[in-house]
Amino acid sequence: MEPDLSALGHLGNTSVVGLQWGDEGKGKIVDLLTGQFDYAVRWNGGSNAGHSVQVGAVKYAFHLIPSGILHPHCICVLANGVVIDPIQLVQEIDALAGQGLELRDKLRISSQAHVVLPHHKLQDQLSEGRLGNQRLGTTARGIGPCYADKALRAGALRMADLIDEDRLRSRLPVIVSEKNRLLQRLYDAEPLAWEPIFEQYRGCAEQLREHVCDTTDLLQEAWRNHRRLLFEGANAVLLDLDHGTFPFVTSSNCGTGLSAGAGVPGAALTSILGVAKAYCTRVGAGPFPTEQNNAIGEHLRQRGHEYGTTTGRPRRCGWLDLVALRYAVRVCGVTGLCLMLLDVLSGMDALRLCTAYRHAGRYTEGFPPDAYDLARAEPVYETLPGWSESLEDTTRRADLPANARRYLERIEAFVQTPIRMVSVGAARHQTMTC
Ligand code: IMP
Repeated sequence: MEPDLSALGHLGNTSVVGLQWGDEGKGKIVDLLTGQFDYAVRWNGGSNAGHSVQVGAVKYAFHLIPSGILHPHCICVLANGVVIDPIQLVQEIDALAGQGLELRDKLRISSQAHVVLPHHKLQDQLSEGRLGNQRLGTTARGIGPCYADKALRAGALRMADLIDEDRLRSRLPVIVSEKNRLLQRLYDAEPLAWEPIFEQYRGCAEQLREHVCDTTDLLQEAWRNHRRLLFEGANAVLLDLDHGTFPFVTSSNCGTGLSAGAGVPGAALTSILGVAKAYCTRVGAGPFPTEQNNAIGEHLRQRGHEYGTTTGRPRRCGWLDLVALRYAVRVCGVTGLCLMLLDVLSGMDALRLCTAYRHAGRYTEGFPPDAYDLARAEPVYETLPGWSESLEDTTRRADLPANARRYLERIEAFVQTPIRMVSVGAARHQTMTC
């Protein structure tokens, strides 16, 4: 059974963003909404993202391909702001084909999107290894080095270069040789040979060529023709390069970069849905004031299956941080919240919500923009009573236990944004709209 989405009304062009440190369940929301849209667009990040979607008994995991791919009429776009690992993308296309999903007319890839090369992944790993206990805990997918080369401009390769064999043959040796000099001097790395990379990437290009086009033009035309656009943000606001907990962030503007990453102005959007868990998680290093490094954190991890989709790493777990959530909502201009994994909180006697921090002897309800300050901020909690009932079969907000409703109301009041969807399980039907 599909959930009743009519309570959401007409959404218009919509952006879906993660409001915490990633893994909030954006994939499920996008999958549910895509039926109402003509285009599903990824505009940032790369295969560091992991979206999982469950349809019936089948579980799909995506890293690059938009979750909207499961809807037959929806065109899926990897726009210019995405960094594309062609090997990973071809694997995902093949895996979906193996599950009976043919992407021929459904997938469009920007010719301006940058390509992740083997040395980006190597550099990511070597740099993390060198940093030791100062490491960022990246996904080792080459995201940072690829975006860095994009900003540097020399040494970057775009999809248009990849699919043009002559260009690939002339650019790759220069790029690889320059990178070898750098990696050898910095990390004592073995030099990479360009020829096998050329062969492997040429093979990928064969498969991807038919999907590559000018996606800015495609999306502009779609917008002019009143086609419905759904933008699927990867990663999350607290990992945003400018507005997240720098340097413990990813290398794209995951909360705020939509117009740069897709070539469509923010004015095209009528709804911005922010996705948050009913508690908090984080993978990788960085400050996390409400982290519970104890039995509560372990309980959340087990009940919420909190292990990374991309790396399998156990996620750090803790109480919902309303200060951070309100900050993320404001930075992105969120018009409605989607609260995920509320069912995981069933059976806990009391629930804590962080409503302020104490830092350097001061009390503040503001989110410190500096990771060093945040790491020293002590959360100030409000405690609400929990509930014992299982929520997995609840289909209406009004039918939730009174204490669960109170929890939702407190979130809305603090963040000053309405909750539009509540998720109580992985399946599509385990979703309430409000
Ligand atoms: P990178 O994006 O691989 O460079 O990793 C930088 C930081 O962002 C690390 O802490 C990662 O764990 C985190 N990160 C990147 N993408 C995601 C995501 O989609 N979910 C959760 N964490 C992420």
